[in-house]
Amino acid sequence: MSSLLSVGDLTPAELRRLVEVARDLKRAPQLGAGKLAGKTIGLFFEKPSLRTWVSCDVAAVQLGAHPVAIRNEEAGLGTREPAEDMGKVLGRYLDALGMRVRRHTDLETVAAVAGIPVVNLLSDREHPCQALADLVTIAERVGNTPRVAFVGDGNNVCHSLMLAVTMWGGSIRVATPPGYEPHSEVVASARRWGEVELGDDPRWAVEGAQVVYTDVWASMGQESEADQRRRAFEGFVVDSDLMDSADSSAVFMHCLPAHRGEEVTAEVLEGPRSVVFDQAENRLHAFKAVLLWMFGVVD
Ligand code: CP
Ligand code: NVA
Repeated sequence: MSSLLSVGDLTPAELRRLVEVARDLKRAPQLGAGKLAGKTIGLFFEKPSLRTWVSCDVAAVQLGAHPVAIRNEEAGLGTREPAEDMGKVLGRYLDALGMRVRRHTDLETVAAVAGIPVVNLLSDREHPCQALADLVTIAERVGNTPRVAFVGDGNNVCHSLMLAVTMWGGSIRVATPPGYEPHSEVVASARRWGEVELGDDPRWAVEGAQVVYTDVWASMGQESEADQRRRAFEGFVVDSDLMDSADSSAVFMHCLPAHRGEEVTAEVLEGPRSVVFDQAENRLHAFKAVLLWMFGVVD
């Protein structure tokens, strides 16, 4: 039973298999029914969530498992007790644990000692379950070798997307303002699989792209930098003009929540090219695939 802290923890074959299973479960949800009966899945949140919390909870229930929500207000990661103790304790109660954390290193600490599979439900470094749902959406709308543009902050969502797209056989251009580039280590990992180009011009990034992806400029925990970031990201708004510079069939993607009028205009977010609610739905199917894979129900 494996943990999933990074998209890079998967092989390209496993990634393909997870996307395939997620799509099968979307077409025929009953395929998963009861497959994880008797299992208990912890869902820990150190930061707010709508999609992740609800879709993971529902995923567990649909597979017959029992989800247990653990709010950091009660648990106190790093304040009431250290990550290591939390991991050792939760590993004795649960069969698997999903965690949304401020520090990726806490995930690594818990995964090292818990003795159960641990899934990253978003950290400062990655958001692998989002990237899996994004690949399901890309497979539905674009196909197997997508040309993707990410415009905005080189953040957790950008990192997982770079890895997922390249492992999937696609290529990605990332446009960020100087100083907001994705981590060089993640870029190097993604480049082992496929083409990753970095730049600071959104128009260059979207030229010929079949997918235009953006995310908030200030992630959870960066609220105090919001004004400074708004200034730095001027010119990085995904609007209709920018979408018109992409491929004529290009879709718009965003992990949500979105800030209309900041990183994306309402017109694009709500327009005919937007697939953001398919992405949100696909979080459910993708997480069901992850759970089945972790418990060895699918290989
Ligand atoms: N996309 C995503 O992870 O949404 P939440 O923060 O609402 O879970
Ligand atoms: N980059 C965002 C993603 C939210 C789903 C954040 O970390 O807040």
